[in-house]
Amino acid sequence: MPELIREVKEESKKEILKRISAHSHIRGLGLDEKGEPIFIADGLVGQLEARKAAGIVVKMIREGKLAGRGILFVGPPGSGKTALAIAIARELGQDTPFVMLSGAELYSAEVKKTEVLMRAVRRAIGIRIKEIRRVYEGAVKEIKFVMTRHPFNPYVKVPKAARITLATRDEEKTLEVSQEIALQLIDLNVRRGDLIWIDADTGTVHKVGRVRGIEKARYYDVEAYRVYRELPKGRVFKEREIVRTITLHDIDEAFAAQRRAITVSVFGFEAAEREIDPEIRKEADEYARKLLQSGHAELVPGVLFIDDVHMLDIEAFSFLSRVMESEFSPIIIMATNRGITRIRGTDIESPHGVPLDVLDRLLIIPVRPYTPEEMREIIKIRADEEDVELTEDALDALVKIAQERSLRYAVQLMQPAKIIASRRGSKAVTAKDIEEVAKLFVDVKQSVEYARKWEQLFLK
Ligand SMILES: Nc1ncnc2c1ncn2[C@@H]1O[C@H](COP(=O)(O)OP(=O)(O)OP(=O)(O)O)[C@@H](O)[C@H]1O
Ligand SMILES: [Mg+2]
Repeated sequence: MPELIREVKEESKKEILKRISAHSHIRGLGLDEKGEPIFIADGLVGQLEARKAAGIVVKMIREGKLAGRGILFVGPPGSGKTALAIAIARELGQDTPFVMLSGAELYSAEVKKTEVLMRAVRRAIGIRIKEIRRVYEGAVKEIKFVMTRHPFNPYVKVPKAARITLATRDEEKTLEVSQEIALQLIDLNVRRGDLIWIDADTGTVHKVGRVRGIEKARYYDVEAYRVYRELPKGRVFKEREIVRTITLHDIDEAFAAQRRAITVSVFGFEAAEREIDPEIRKEADEYARKLLQSGHAELVPGVLFIDDVHMLDIEAFSFLSRVMESEFSPIIIMATNRGITRIRGTDIESPHGVPLDVLDRLLIIPVRPYTPEEMREIIKIRADEEDVELTEDALDALVKIAQERSLRYAVQLMQPAKIIASRRGSKAVTAKDIEEVAKLFVDVKQSVEYARKWEQLFLK
């Protein structure tokens, strides 16, 4: 495993999930062990068939039976399509890449839309690297360096070797290590009480954290280490499986960084690059293929979720269908609230604005409008999540608004209503507060009516 990949940061899925605050109450699909949905669980309410279907999708993703194919959630606005995709992401866990892209994000002025898509696709393909390594692992009990005079400078001393005692709960072992390892120990500032492991074959030293009770307490150490580890069990010398997942995009970036470094050293400047050269991607693919063939790595097709997919134009769709046919393809999940509509960039009408050849590869999950009872539960959950206290009649008023206008509009009214209530000196929001904010803030239908009424006064 070349060193190059180690330096790459992975974009954490947690970050993506944090961004989408309207769905912060969603923890998973809320299914029982048999995959049957529980009416209210994991922050999700009702929508039982779609949740069951989503559970099957998760199973297929985990078993690798969906790569190169896709899922399309179809349903009216506010029916929970985005919410379900996020629930799928939560179910999949940290190790499966999940990338979220909204159709509208493609049209940035800075980067070509196929580049935006390509990046998203490559972020959604994981490579899980498993290595069995022979290692010495333990907490440092004793560390001593053997110093020698620098070969050219008699006034400087350098380590020639080191003697280090590692301890587990069951054993203690003292190792004489080479100069190469001694230098790493100095670089990493390894001290008594550190938990480390040394790769027995390559000699690479890894510092993992600290173990309590071995270090000599020093007053300036207090805040330096927050992660304390358990003292490991078993032998000091052992085989250890190391697993980590990187993405194709990480490999692209690593190769691009390498190339940049070469440019800088040859030409003395850094080219401002917005796009990754296709040549680099080829190299990266080649590298990934070798890793996979070596048997030490496996492909983890992740999920690329494209929300509001009707925003994609014909060019973007043909790019996607090429991706779906290629060797490294993520699972593509899409969502739309459009019926029959024009495919962007053409005069052709198609179901959901998606070309037929792409539709052919998709399993479609319908998402239906909510019943008033379901809306009531969702509003209660969101009120809880947003820390808004509703009286019973305020809840009734919101459910009515959700039915007549939309669920999203009803949810959006809660925060302004809370402000009005607090100005009255009340903690709880009442039906009157709701009525008042519903006059101050209108929903889309009302704002269109308003625009029509005063048409001649608007700028054209
Ligand atoms: N079944 C559900 N349980 C709990 N919360 C839900 C459920 N369905 C939707 N919500 C919440 O209701 C709001 C609207 O749902 P969401 O944004 O998922 O709708 P959508 O179908 O994606 O709509 P659009 O077509 O407008 O994009 C969100 O805050 C979402 O988290
Ligand atoms: Mg949505």
